[in-house]
Amino acid sequence: MVSNHLPVAIDSSGSDLRIITTSGGLITAINSFLRRNKSITDHFSHSYWVGVPECSPATWSKAESLLPAATFEYLPVFINKNIFEKYYDGFCNTAIWPLFHYFPSFAEFNEADFDNYLKANQSFLDVIINNARQDDIIWIHDYHLLPLAELIRREIPRITIGFFLHIPFPTFEMLRLMPHEWQQRIIKGMLGADLIGFQTIDYTSHFLESVRMFLGIDHEMNIIRYDDRLIKADVFPISIDFDRFNKAYDDPNGQRIKKMLKEKFSGMKVIFSVDRLDYTKGVKNRLDAYELFLSRHREFHEQVVFILVVVPSRHTLPKYAERKKIINELVGRINSQTGNVRWQPIVHQYTSLSFEEMVGFYVTCDVALITPLRDGMNLVAKEFVASRQDKKGVLILSELAGAARELTDALTINPNDTKELAEKISEAFSMNVEEQHRRIETMQARIKQYDIFTWADDFLAQLKNIKKKQQEFQVKFMDDVSRMTMLEHYRKARTRLFLLDYDGTLVNYFPSPLNARPGHALLELLGDIASQSQNDLFIISGRDRNILEKWFGQLPLNIIAEHGASLKLCGTEWRDLLIEKRDWKADIKKIMDSYVKRCANTSLEEKRFSILWHFRNANAQQAKLRASELIMELNQFGHNLGLQVILGNKIVEVKNKEISKEQTVRNILSKRQYDFILAAGDDVNDEEVFRVLAGNENAFTFKIGGDASFAKYNLHTPQMVLSTLHTLNHIMAYTK
Ligand code: UDP
Ligand code: G6P
Repeated sequence: MVSNHLPVAIDSSGSDLRIITTSGGLITAINSFLRRNKSITDHFSHSYWVGVPECSPATWSKAESLLPAATFEYLPVFINKNIFEKYYDGFCNTAIWPLFHYFPSFAEFNEADFDNYLKANQSFLDVIINNARQDDIIWIHDYHLLPLAELIRREIPRITIGFFLHIPFPTFEMLRLMPHEWQQRIIKGMLGADLIGFQTIDYTSHFLESVRMFLGIDHEMNIIRYDDRLIKADVFPISIDFDRFNKAYDDPNGQRIKKMLKEKFSGMKVIFSVDRLDYTKGVKNRLDAYELFLSRHREFHEQVVFILVVVPSRHTLPKYAERKKIINELVGRINSQTGNVRWQPIVHQYTSLSFEEMVGFYVTCDVALITPLRDGMNLVAKEFVASRQDKKGVLILSELAGAARELTDALTINPNDTKELAEKISEAFSMNVEEQHRRIETMQARIKQYDIFTWADDFLAQLKNIKKKQQEFQVKFMDDVSRMTMLEHYRKARTRLFLLDYDGTLVNYFPSPLNARPGHALLELLGDIASQSQNDLFIISGRDRNILEKWFGQLPLNIIAEHGASLKLCGTEWRDLLIEKRDWKADIKKIMDSYVKRCANTSLEEKRFSILWHFRNANAQQAKLRASELIMELNQFGHNLGLQVILGNKIVEVKNKEISKEQTVRNILSKRQYDFILAAGDDVNDEEVFRVLAGNENAFTFKIGGDASFAKYNLHTPQMVLSTLHTLNHIMAYTK
């Protein structure tokens, strides 16, 4: 386990060292999982928790004997104080935290903070490579460590890495506010993992969208193919140790607190909330709504108390200190203006609570008021529900917390709607016991079904799955047995389909695309195959129809130009499958032209439905960098123009969104049933064809070149494709 904090920190300010338990949802969750010995031994023979202990190496050595016994070993990462401040206070909590929680105006983008963020991640890397081996599993947690997976991957390429983001992943519009280099480091950093987990489906979709926008890489059922690996992004809503909270209801300490509170607030309705001091938690909105509730419902004066616990957090940051002041002033004003000598409407504590105290409050209150403006999950909501063994109490929950996706039986509110929130408080007080019972029971069933142990098991199982898939997805050359099977299949088939890409598949690439014209032998071979009545042969090319007509127009085959934009069926005329739009071209061309100037030996090609930037002849490293920049710029510009930007084999292509080889192939397959299919291609868009055919046992799919692919087999070169086609052609002659 790798997280910014360790679950303990060492306080050396007094005469004796003090071990402090760190707080927050991440620590609670991972601790719950690691606390149960069985959960660990089910998965690992040995486990470590890597994190920052916030003390010097000398202090740590002294404190080691005082650390609480654990199922894991601590691996401390020591980071110099200056670096740590710029990394943690700076980049983590003044750039990513506000931006990812949709507070862009709170975000500050400071180059030095980012540099130190990378340095801190490097310190984590150093500890990990000193301790990890290739067969180990590394599970990285949260936004402090977004670049880490990529750093580890560079050092130990085959290691298994899971990454889980505990906070929201925002829309592309938020992410693009950051400097380009940072966006790239973050997205590519996360893609260093094999499995990337998010709290909700929305966060997962936002991530996949960002990968597409920044890198031009699409996904298939949440699986991304990047850097010759398969990477999965999926949803794993984090949870709690349900039984621990549920059983704590009877805990004598909790009961004592409950009794004390019941006596103190006898006959009154009790509202409770507990959050870290954070502007994302919506405490001000909550207080505004409570004040409105009190002004509209005077019958509740002296009948209600709001216990507002705020847990100290990130106090060195100005935005947090400011939040504390805002809350204090508001509490003071409501208490003095609405309260009286007998009654204090709000009891406010700025402190952290023990487990027993938390549960004491959970089981005593009538209403838990949880109103974050944004929250990755919010475990407090789940803990409150789980603790209510008596099945009483009402949860009022912000729809902007990840937990609202699962706890649909809460009274959900929009935290910015003060009136709605005030009315929900009154609705909660009038909810009858049967209704409370029903709602709590449904929510408890959900939490119990997917508790922290299921969460961790689910994540680790998916991690192993994707690793297995990666192995299956490796380069596979056809062995003799498979080759014989294919030939036999072909011989018996009465209807056969050939789906052949052109450049890089039937001919080699040439520095100038116009030189890649088909030779006489190739034309003869294609003509022979296509003229057999059992055979339908399609050339599916990205080239435009003029050149394809010139080269293949005389042959009895079918031609698809621009990846599906125009079609010529054998013996018929060309027809467009899409409506040609030109309005986007001038602006896009201008952008792409500037890259021709910025990167020597590159060129533009304009087709009817697309424009391509070719960089085959350019310096590879520089072109790679420019290609990323171009993709990003094009996406930012073309976002609303209905265009797609694709990184292909040494090209960046902008085209109409509706064009896809996948759709083209689906159309072909819908017209006729085929007993034998051969598809061959070398480029990224050919993967769409391979995926469509993946489950089809009549299909033999070939990726040209040595890259991993969704195709069943690899063939080294176009010459090997021709030799395979020759063999089949020979069988055809033989069967005749
Ligand atoms: N918590 C705690 N001590 C406190 C207050 C809260 O340990 O004094 C725990 C609480 O039980 C919960 C976690 O901190 O498990 C808060 O998690 P949540 O997801 O609600 O919010 P986060 O602080 O992670 O943003
Ligand atoms: C959230 C974050 C955690 C973090 C916690 C407490 O839950 O997702 O990564 O640990 O807040 O914040 P802190 O800055 O004290 O670690």
